[in-house]
Amino acid sequence: MTMKIITILVLLFYYASGDKFNFTNYALYRIIPKNIEELTTLHSMIHTNNKDLDFFDEPVNVDGLVSVVTSPGYRKTFDEILKANKIYAEVTIENIQAVIDKERIGKYAHRNVRSMTWDAYYTFEDIYSWLDDVAAGNSDVVSLIYGGMSYEGREIKGVKISHGSGRRSIFIEGGIHAREWISYATVNYIINELVYSEDPETQAAARDFDWYIFPCTNPDGYVWTHTDFRLWRKNRKPVGTEFGIDLNRNWNSNWLLKSSSTDPSSNTYAGIGPFSEIEARTLASYIESVADTMEMYLSFHSSGQLLMVPYGNTTDPLDNYYDTIKIGRQAMGSLAVRHGTPYITGNIAEAIYEATGTSVDWVKEKLRIPLTYCYELRDRGQYGHLLPADQILPNSEEVMDSVLALIREGRALGYFNSSASIKVSISLLLGIVLYLLY
Ligand SMILES: *[C@@H]1O[C@H](CO)[C@@H](O)[C@H](O)[C@H]1NC(C)=O
Ligand SMILES: *[C@@H]1O[C@H](CO)[C@@H](O)[C@H](O)[C@H]1NC(C)=O
Ligand SMILES: *[C@@H]1O[C@H](CO)[C@@H](O)[C@H](O)[C@H]1NC(C)=O
Ligand SMILES: [Zn+2]
Repeated sequence: MTMKIITILVLLFYYASGDKFNFTNYALYRIIPKNIEELTTLHSMIHTNNKDLDFFDEPVNVDGLVSVVTSPGYRKTFDEILKANKIYAEVTIENIQAVIDKERIGKYAHRNVRSMTWDAYYTFEDIYSWLDDVAAGNSDVVSLIYGGMSYEGREIKGVKISHGSGRRSIFIEGGIHAREWISYATVNYIINELVYSEDPETQAAARDFDWYIFPCTNPDGYVWTHTDFRLWRKNRKPVGTEFGIDLNRNWNSNWLLKSSSTDPSSNTYAGIGPFSEIEARTLASYIESVADTMEMYLSFHSSGQLLMVPYGNTTDPLDNYYDTIKIGRQAMGSLAVRHGTPYITGNIAEAIYEATGTSVDWVKEKLRIPLTYCYELRDRGQYGHLLPADQILPNSEEVMDSVLALIREGRALGYFNSSASIKVSISLLLGIVLYLLY
C-alpha cells in the first residue's frame, strides 16, 4: 500500500517537474588518446550504454579528439577507469544543465525576417516560419521545396534560390543529427546571405547557381532536442522499447560496414536496412531528382572543425580525391582568415573515423557529384554540440567565406564550368539533327 502511494507520488512529481530531461551534473570530457593502448581502452567503452557514456566522437585515432558525456551516476566509475589506465582527461563542462540553461533560444516574429538573428538558436516551427517568409518576400528568386517527410509526419522543407534556368547547382543539407544545433543555424545563415547579402561575391554566387538548401533534415529529432532531450542525435522512430535510427548511417552506400551499430539503443544504430528510414529515403530520392545539374554537395555537422571528403570506408584516394583535397585545403585557408579558426581537411576515414552509410558517401558513389564535402563545425571539444549562441555569427561568417572559396578554388581547377554540359547537349543536338536528316 505505502509502496503504491510512493510510486504515485514519484510519478506525480516526475510529470509535475516537466518533460525535459535534466542534465544536472552530467559532465563533458575532452580526451586526446596518446597511444594505441589508450585508444583501445576508450574504444572498448563505446558499448557502455549511451545514457551513461555518450561519445560525441568515436575514439579511433591516436592524437584525435574524443568528447564524451558521462552521467553523474557513472562518473566515478569512468574516472577510475581513466585513472587505472593513466589516461589524461580534461573536464570542459562540469554541469551540462548549466550550459543548457544559458542557451539562447530566440523568438521569431512571423512576417519579420529580420527578427531571426545570429546570436540565438531557433525552434523547428520558427525556422520553418522564417523559410516561408524568406520565400514569400522574394518570390522571384526563392521558392519553397519539399525534400521529403519525417516519421512523425513533418515535412523536410527547404528553399531553392534561383535567378533563372540553365544553371549548375549546389545542394546543402543540414541538421541530419538533431543535437548539432550549430548546423541548423549555419545553414540558415547561408540562406540569409545568398538572399540578402550586399557583398558582390556572395551576390554573384547566388546568381550563378541554383541552390537547393535544407536546414532541417531530421525534423522529429530536432523537435525532440527542444522539448525533451537536448542531446538527442537520431530520428524518433520507435524500435521495440528504444527509439531512433542514426539518419547518417542509413544511406545505401556500404551500409553497416563501419562505425554503425545493429543495437537500437546505440547512437549509431543504422536501422534494419539501407534506406529503412523515411527521412533518408525521401531526401535521397529528392536529391536524385535534381542531381543532373549538381556540381557540389555540402553536408553540415558538428563538431571538430574538419572538412571531409568521401569515402568513409577507406583512406584510399578514390575518384577525384586529390582535386577535392586541394580545393578543400584552400577553402579552409580562406575560412581561417576572418577569425583564425583552424580546420583540418581530409578523407572521412582519415580525418575523423571510418563511417559508412552516410549521405555524402551515397551522393558521391551513386550520383557522382564532383565536389562533395562534409563539414564538422566548431568547436574542438570545449562545448561540442552545445556551442554557445555567441559563436553562431563568427562560425557562420567564416563558413560562408569558405563556401565562396570552394566555388572560387573549384573553378580554378575546372569545376563549376557548364561548358562541359553545354558541349554534351550541342553534340546531342547535332546528333539528332543528323539522324533526322538521314
Ligand atoms: C534540474 O535538477 C536540479 C537538481 O535537482 C535542479 O536544481 C534544477 O532546477 C533542475 N533544472 C531544471 C531545468 O529542471
Ligand atoms: C570503398 O567504397 C567505395 C564506394 O563504394 C568503393 O568504390 C571502394 O572500392 C571501397 N574501398 C574499399 C577498400 O573497400
Ligand atoms: C571551362 O573549363 C575549360 C577547361 O578547363 C576552360 O578552358 C574554360 O575557359 C572554362 N570556362 C569557363 C566559363 O570557366
Ligand atoms: Zn553529425
